[in-house]
Amino acid sequence: MRLPHVLASAAVSIDGFLDDDTPERLVLSGPADLDRVDAERAGVDAILVGGDTVRADDPRLLVRSPQRRADRLARGLRPSPLRVVLSSRPVAPDARVLTEGRELADTVVLCGPPDEVLDRLAAHGVVRLMIEGGARVHRDFLAAHAVDELQLAIAPRLVGAGPRFTGVPLQGHLVETRRVEQDVLLRYRFGDADTRWLAEACSLAERCPPSASAFSVGCVVVAADGTVLATGHSRRDDVLDHAEEVALRDLDHADPRLPGATIYTSLEPCGQRASRPTTCTQHILDAGVGRVVMAWREPPLFVGTPSGAARLAEAGVEVIERPEFVELARRPNLHR
Ligand SMILES: NC(=O)c1ccc[n+]([C@@H]2O[C@H](COP(=O)([O-])OP(=O)(O)OC[C@H]3O[C@@H](n4cnc5c(N)ncnc54)[C@H](OP(=O)(O)O)[C@@H]3O)[C@@H](O)[C@H]2O)c1
Ligand SMILES: [Zn+2]
Repeated sequence: MRLPHVLASAAVSIDGFLDDDTPERLVLSGPADLDRVDAERAGVDAILVGGDTVRADDPRLLVRSPQRRADRLARGLRPSPLRVVLSSRPVAPDARVLTEGRELADTVVLCGPPDEVLDRLAAHGVVRLMIEGGARVHRDFLAAHAVDELQLAIAPRLVGAGPRFTGVPLQGHLVETRRVEQDVLLRYRFGDADTRWLAEACSLAERCPPSASAFSVGCVVVAADGTVLATGHSRRDDVLDHAEEVALRDLDHADPRLPGATIYTSLEPCGQRASRPTTCTQHILDAGVGRVVMAWREPPLFVGTPSGAARLAEAGVEVIERPEFVELARRPNLHR
């Protein structure tokens, strides 16, 4: 996977349109979904839109919730992510991305094909990017195979005519469906199985309740046929919870799919642990999961003891490390 990790987010009507064909701004999804999008915004380093979206909708592209702004500040980030406008011409000086919220976020205007734009953002330290449209920008990034995750909120109305992102043949994989009041959220991922599930584990790590001292980790347990058996993240049910521990807690250890399953985790499973008697390495061995794919290895906490990965490998578990995911896995731990 290349950086930044790209989340494309859009609201569509039942008939698949992003807007109607009138000049007025059409807000398709309801307040609960707008708040969900606000939470996603708070979890990225930059938000990107096309020049026509700025001209048509005049968005501010800011995190709205004061609490989410404060949480970002506490982590050493700007209160709101960098605002990126893709355009071959200057943005109108009275556009709200330039005039509003300057104390909260910067705005840059970029021009160029998706690969170049992503390289430039990565060089500026953007690890997670959110693309909020419009149609052409979504289409171009999907066609360039530059989208890792697509979040589509389907609003309960028909629009009849307007922009839509047709014309890109691409196979996605459904990772979640969620009802958000009157809207339905569909989450899709793209890419090969190991890439999409490890990226999903890293995204789940962003959901961890904040902690000044403990790691924020995400994990997904996937059967050989691609069925998601369980997911977990640090401190999900209790402050001492580890991601792998809570995911495996949800599973019946007699499930015949576990030996053929893979556990994807953003951090190497712990091999030594002070908080509870059983390490995640031991939980994985007890559950009989046959394969572990991980993003990030920390130097061992206790010198001279074998790491979790080493113990798993010794016990016959296939262990795969994907170092190109390290920055994505580290992102929710930047305060450490
Ligand atoms: N429902 C939703 O979630 C949602 C979200 C956002 C927008 N929308 C709707 O989508 C519509 C706008 O979509 P759209 O397809 O017309 O436009 P768009 O994708 O917002 O913007 C396209 C324009 O951006 C500039 N651009 C795009 N890629 C570029 C690149 N790589 N380098 C430089 N410039 C680039 C070009 O214009 P210039 O170079 O001339 O600037 C291009 O014409 C509006 O109706 C809006 O309401 C809906
Ligand atoms: Zn652990």
